[in-house]
Amino acid sequence: MKLIEAKDYKEMSKIAADIMIKKVADNPAITLGLATGGTPLGIYSSLIDDHKENGTSYNGVTSFNLDEYAGLSGKDPNSYRSYMNENFFHHIDIQKENTFVPCGDAEDLQKACADYEALIKAHKGIDLQILGIGENGHIGFNEPGTSFDSETHVVQLTDSTRQANARYFSSLEAVPQAAVTMGIASIMKSKEILLLVSGKQKSEALKQLLNSSPDESFPASVLNKHPYVTILADKAAIAGLIVNS
Ligand code: PGA
Repeated sequence: MKLIEAKDYKEMSKIAADIMIKKVADNPAITLGLATGGTPLGIYSSLIDDHKENGTSYNGVTSFNLDEYAGLSGKDPNSYRSYMNENFFHHIDIQKENTFVPCGDAEDLQKACADYEALIKAHKGIDLQILGIGENGHIGFNEPGTSFDSETHVVQLTDSTRQANARYFSSLEAVPQAAVTMGIASIMKSKEILLLVSGKQKSEALKQLLNSSPDESFPASVLNKHPYVTILADKAAIAGLIVNS
């Protein structure tokens, strides 16, 4: 794994956006794996600025998002589909039919998971996957204990994840109990992975990632087995690492 240190969140987002812009320029038909949450917001904002100023086109790009809350329709303002539309897709020229987010309100969620996995395969996999990391080491919504062999599946969210995400909802009770997520094996099939780590609240997770061998109790540790992972971390995430190690 390669570690790139950024001065702060803004610089980290800019470096990540520049990497993505270059990938899209090199391969206009690229398949991107996208993430939600607080961390990637700066990347999407940089990509939108670049699209407006420099005309980078997403017309031939396909995207797959990592996850979606179970029980929320794509129209729900708290759904990850809404997040992606508002924070990225509506501001660029990507074809909406080429943007995929797991369906959280499918009648048959198990079938929706299998269909999503098949769709990724039909697109010959993800070329570049953007990832955040949870304080408990989750990637996507793959909570500690998730099998490294898992493909897209339904998960029960842990209390810590629901608490971390409660800031987007009216109350903790309003945070869904479950989600659909690409599995660890689905993520590991991506040809290349860019992991973003920002803030001192993530420094313990970063430390564990860098110091652990792959173990299902800490999902992100699987990334140590992937040949092309770049970790982009800001000083706040890295500073804690140095003080504590
Ligand atoms: P965050 O979430 O970007 O909102 O911190 C990351 C994650 O939980 O994967």
